[in-house]
Amino acid sequence: MSSKIQEMFNTIASDYDKMNRVMTFGMDRYWRRYVIKRSLLRDGSKLLDIATGTGDIIFESLKKYKVHATGLDFSEAMLEIARQRDREDKARWIQADALNLPFDDNSFDAVTSGYLMRNADNINKAFAEQYRVLKKGGRVVCLDTTPPGKNIFKPFITLYFKLIIPLMGKILAGNHSAYAYLTESTVNFKTSDEIIEIMKSCGFKNIIVKKFMFATIAVHSAIK
Ligand SMILES: C[S@@+](CC[C@H](N)C(=O)[O-])C[C@H]1O[C@@H](n2cnc3c(N)ncnc32)[C@H](O)[C@@H]1O
Repeated sequence: MSSKIQEMFNTIASDYDKMNRVMTFGMDRYWRRYVIKRSLLRDGSKLLDIATGTGDIIFESLKKYKVHATGLDFSEAMLEIARQRDREDKARWIQADALNLPFDDNSFDAVTSGYLMRNADNINKAFAEQYRVLKKGGRVVCLDTTPPGKNIFKPFITLYFKLIIPLMGKILAGNHSAYAYLTESTVNFKTSDEIIEIMKSCGFKNIIVKKFMFATIAVHSAIK
């Protein structure tokens, strides 16, 4: 577990939701809805959302289905906001490391994550853990940024990531370095093809990829 990353999320927790809406022009909600769609949930499904943060994916799922939802994160400050938002105690919130999930094998119908992998020390281990706790036939759905590919928009996208986002972080959240980290981790993150190879090596099948926002956001989904 990286204590530096954990500390960073504890620091930015109170501004996290606001920054998300602004940085993505409000599109982040739409991507999370797509995550729920690919999870193929129904009433009664057992859902685990890893790196749940302030719980957006869980709350989105509860709008549509009566799921048994578990949100897991290693940042207590992020989880505290999720707990406060969950006024009716509809989900359980657990502080733990994504690389060492405190659940039995074959426990969940769907495992989702939003912007975990870019921060994870060991992506293979993270997917292997998700595979382990999923039931056979269960779905994994991973939402994350993806390095901008070569196209005519690339200079503008690079400018947005390298200059505008850290500047917004400074102005709106008083934290330039955390948002400079976000862009660094996006640009240096694995390509979609590399993610697919890792997922396959962990045993996942029927991998589907959907990209958003000039191919800077990707959702990888698959079946165990
Ligand atoms: C960018 S936030 C995403 C939050 C939420 N999933 C969303 O869609 O808005 C990333 C979250 O991952 C958590 N995280 C990063 N590495 C983790 C790990 N190894 N174990 C558990 N949580 C982790 C951070 O604490 C943070 O809350």
